[in-house]
Amino acid sequence: MSDLRVGLAGLGTVGTGVIRMLDRRAADLAARTGRTVKVVAVAARDRTRDRGVDLSGLAWFDDPVALARDGGIDVFVELMGGDGDPAKAAVEAALDLGRPVVTANKALLARHGVDLARRAEANGASLHFEAAVAGGIPIVKTLRESLAGNQLERVSGILNGTCNYILTRMLEEKLSFNVCLGEAQRLGYAEADPTFDIDGYDTAHKLALLTSLAFGTQVDADSIYVEGIRQLTLADLEAADDLGYKVKLLGVALRTETGIEQRVHPTMVPKHWPIAQVSNVTNAVAVDGDAVSLTLVGPGAGGDATASAVVGDLTDVAKGGKDFTFGIPVGLLQKAERAPMQRHEGGYYIRLAAVNKPGTAATIAQRMADEHISLESIVQRRPDLADDAAATAHVILITYATTEEAVRRAIAAIEADGVVASLPQVIRIEKD
Ligand code: HSE
Repeated sequence: MSDLRVGLAGLGTVGTGVIRMLDRRAADLAARTGRTVKVVAVAARDRTRDRGVDLSGLAWFDDPVALARDGGIDVFVELMGGDGDPAKAAVEAALDLGRPVVTANKALLARHGVDLARRAEANGASLHFEAAVAGGIPIVKTLRESLAGNQLERVSGILNGTCNYILTRMLEEKLSFNVCLGEAQRLGYAEADPTFDIDGYDTAHKLALLTSLAFGTQVDADSIYVEGIRQLTLADLEAADDLGYKVKLLGVALRTETGIEQRVHPTMVPKHWPIAQVSNVTNAVAVDGDAVSLTLVGPGAGGDATASAVVGDLTDVAKGGKDFTFGIPVGLLQKAERAPMQRHEGGYYIRLAAVNKPGTAATIAQRMADEHISLESIVQRRPDLADDAAATAHVILITYATTEEAVRRAIAAIEADGVVASLPQVIRIEKD
């Protein structure tokens, strides 16, 4: 059989990782696919930079769109990133020619996934994106193919290594959020603009893709409720730890009576859950189906891990694999309804900076009772200041299952009563 000639746009850590991996694994990949998979052309901005890989003999394109259209390649690999051009234009150019595309670009697919999948179908091309979600964890293939026999009820995961690293380090080393964020940036985990990581948007992009694969819905990142981790303090992580929970930034997609609920927010998970034990930069995805429930854990970022996913997709392309981008034809994908967060049901952690005066605790308890919220535990620590009367006391409430609406109403009433000194902290709890 003929060679599979790869055109690769983007020569960063992942791009160079792909070149090295294809080289290292050449004999085995040829045995698996019956073809030699080799990079023949690349596109990147700077021709002069030493990237530590041998690029001699490869055709060089300054314009990734020209590479995508070039007749000398059989598959276009997009590793530039960004939800606009040139990545979008280059992917579209390849698909329009019926050429398979492999991409790691979560932002592009979260925003334009349905249009690109439609374009792929119309032109008889295939669009592969294993590397776009949770790096080296093969969750796309798992959802699209391996679990096809299941009706899936829930997909949830730690999908951002930067946030998981920050939350782990804060608790383990008793460090502040800002110190840990700086460290994550120094180590190269964070996106160029780290607000994408810490405010939850990177997780939302990945969740949008998982939701489509798991539930047959149109990719719709805008219908996801998103809350990040920047407001979390070490005191919250320690309190959660004392109460038997770890705090994780989770992306959750859930089948409910009113539609598919998609949300990203800090979540307290019982310490004995596998996902609670996933620390540092590692990612995890838990899938609950009617026949199988499983958790996949692995590296969510990094050159080799992401290259592993790209090379897996290239292997599928070499074998002629032509799955529908999101598992089923675009015309059958259902519109994603935004399940209103106000109706979310579950347990809650509420930390209040309570004014230290008689009646405060009674007021808080009464407002909770007014909303029929049942309390599982109440903890109040003695204020740190010598002058107790001048201090505020942290009151931590853990509720039994209630609704977001009831919690928000109770907190608004407590604030109106004037018994709290600063904004309350609210963290949703996932329980057995
Ligand atoms: N910034 C991302 C993370 C990289 O921290 O997980 C992988 O998408």
